[in-house]
Formats: sequence, C-alpha cells, structure tokens
Amino acid sequence: MVPHSDPEHRQRATLGTLPVGRLGFGTMQLTGPGVWGPPADHDAALGVLRRAVELGIDLIDTADSYGPDVTEELVREALHPYPVGLTIATKAGLTRSGPDQWEPCGRPDYLKRQCEGSLLRLGVDRIDLFQLHRVDPSVPADEQFGALAELRDEGKVREVGLSEVTVEQIEHARRIVPVASVQNLYNLAQRGADDVLEYCEQAGIGFIPWFPLASGRLAEDGGPLDTVAKELGATPSQVSLAWLLRRSPAIFPIPGTSSPVHLEENCAARDLELSDAQFAALTDARRELRRWGLAGRNGLAAS
Ligand SMILES: NC(=O)c1ccc[n+]([C@@H]2O[C@H](COP(=O)([O-])OP(=O)(O)OC[C@H]3O[C@@H](n4cnc5c(N)ncnc54)[C@H](OP(=O)(O)O)[C@@H]3O)[C@@H](O)[C@H]2O)c1
Repeated sequence: MVPHSDPEHRQRATLGTLPVGRLGFGTMQLTGPGVWGPPADHDAALGVLRRAVELGIDLIDTADSYGPDVTEELVREALHPYPVGLTIATKAGLTRSGPDQWEPCGRPDYLKRQCEGSLLRLGVDRIDLFQLHRVDPSVPADEQFGALAELRDEGKVREVGLSEVTVEQIEHARRIVPVASVQNLYNLAQRGADDVLEYCEQAGIGFIPWFPLASGRLAEDGGPLDTVAKELGATPSQVSLAWLLRRSPAIFPIPGTSSPVHLEENCAARDLELSDAQFAALTDARRELRRWGLAGRNGLAAS
C-alpha cells in the first residue's frame, strides 16, 4: 500500500491486482425506494453512470441485491462494452423479499448461482471483484469462503472481497482465499471499524468504506465540517471524502448518488487537500460529528 503523502500515488492504488482510482462510485442509489425496483428515471441513472466514467471513475461498486438485479443491468446498459481498466465490483450473499428487506444467504450453491447471474447481467467472462455481502451466521464460514475460493480458482472471479467483517473473520477467510478488499461501514462520524481499517492497511487489503457520507447527512453539518469547508471553498461532502482519502492509503470511498451535480461535486474531492491542522481538527471532532451517524438506513445494518 502506498503512503498518501506520495503525490504520484495519492489518487491511485491497487485493490489486489486491480489498479484503480481511490475514489469510486457506489450504485445503490440508482434503484427505486428501499433499494427495490427500477429507478424513477432510467435514462438519468444511465447518465450518472456514464458521467462517472467520463470523470475518471474506474471503480464501480454494485450488487445483485440492489434492485435486485437492477443496478447490475444498468451498469451493463450504460457502460458495456466496458472501457479498458474499468473495475466492476459486485456482491453476493443476500436475498431480498421487498423494499428495505435484506437477509443473508451464504450457502455455497447460492453464492455460485449468484455469481453466474452477475456474470450474465454484467456481460463479462470474469468478475473483477466479487464480494461476500455478509457472512451468513447460519452457514459454516469455511463453506462460504470456500465457495469464493472455488469461483476464483475456476477463473469466474479475479479478486475476492468481504463486507461487514471483523478482523477475526478476515483472518479466517485469508486462510482459505486471498482477500483483496473489505467493505465496512465507515465515515467521519462512524469509525467503529477503525481496527479493521488498520488491519487492512497493514495487510495490503483495500478498505472500501460504505456510507462514506453517512448517507448524505454529513452534507448537512453546520459544525466542524462546515468550518473546514468554508476555509477551503468546498462543500462538507467534499471535505468528508477528502478526510477519508487522507485517513489511510488503504481507503477507497465509493460515494453513491443519483444526482449529476453531486457526482461532479464528489469527484472534485479527489483534488481537495486538507492541511495537517484541518485533518487533525476533523479527526478529533468525532464526538461532535457522531450525531450524523446513522447505521441501518435501508435496513442494511452493520453487523
Ligand atoms: N457493503 C454494504 O453492506 C453496503 C451497504 C450500503 C452501501 N454500500 C455501497 O456503498 C455505496 C455508498 O453508500 P450509500 O450510497 O448508501 O451512502 P453515501 O454514499 O454515504 O450517501 C449517499 C447519499 O448521499 C447523498 N449524496 C451523495 N453525494 C452528495 C453530495 N455531494 N451532497 C449531498 N448529498 C449527497 C445521496 O443523495 P443524492 O442521490 O440526492 O445525491 C444519497 O442519499 C453504495 O452506493 C453501495 O455501493 C455497501
């Protein structure tokens, strides 16, 4: 993992073997309400995805459970044939029964069937990054990680990632399959995964913080974020993304939006540099910022 102080590598790094820009794009906002069904404006959703790539985003995060199927199909419709170097990360291991309903299912046959479905929907021979959305407590973890290893060995998956896991679970998985990334809830206001982040940094594993903007709530901060934003002529959302990018070279934020204006704004955060004092002030403002934390939106709680 390359230190963030190296200007050549501040914006790019690798997820396993995949070279990507450190600011990606999350597709979860491109569905109907409750992450269920199609978006209200299909063409607008395609436009956001295409604009993200035009703006240099080359890491797109999706999941078969978003919709379900909706965002993977949108990604294909908007971007296939894919530009060289575009990394698409998808996820498996959840079932959906309605809006805001998410249930883990880590049975190996189910994970493998989901992988086949994602290959078809995305229109690829191999998935760049295949993430286990949740470890299913009702299925032996060995079997779930083993299914990921088999998919990798069969060439259906290039890299394997995990989501909402503890350090112990990552260590367990790594005894069975190489782990390129971990996706846990993390933002300025919610730093419960600090231990996982530090582990990832040391192990050379990419850490993908979901809810990087606390679901947009950090944009409303009238306190420490606002102060730094005013100093920099930026927005609170941009400052919270810049803080994440500086927090660790292992971090790859994937802010989600259905708004072209927010997309442009978020992409501009790649060039925003916090001074040492600004970074320290925000890091220390954890208690003040905590009120913006909100786990469990859309029923997708951290474990
Ligand atoms: N692994 C997991 O379990 C898991 C769970 C949740 C999410 N994810 C992934 O993480 C990605 C990011 O999470 P998320 O989308 O839920 O949360 P987020 O990125 O923290 O926030 C998205 C929300 O913030 C708003 N927003 C975005 N940019 C903004 C800006 N510049 N100013 C003001 N508001 C802004 C969006 O509304 P507008 O549409 O109006 O911009 C949206 O409501 C998802 O898309 C998904 O790929 C993974």
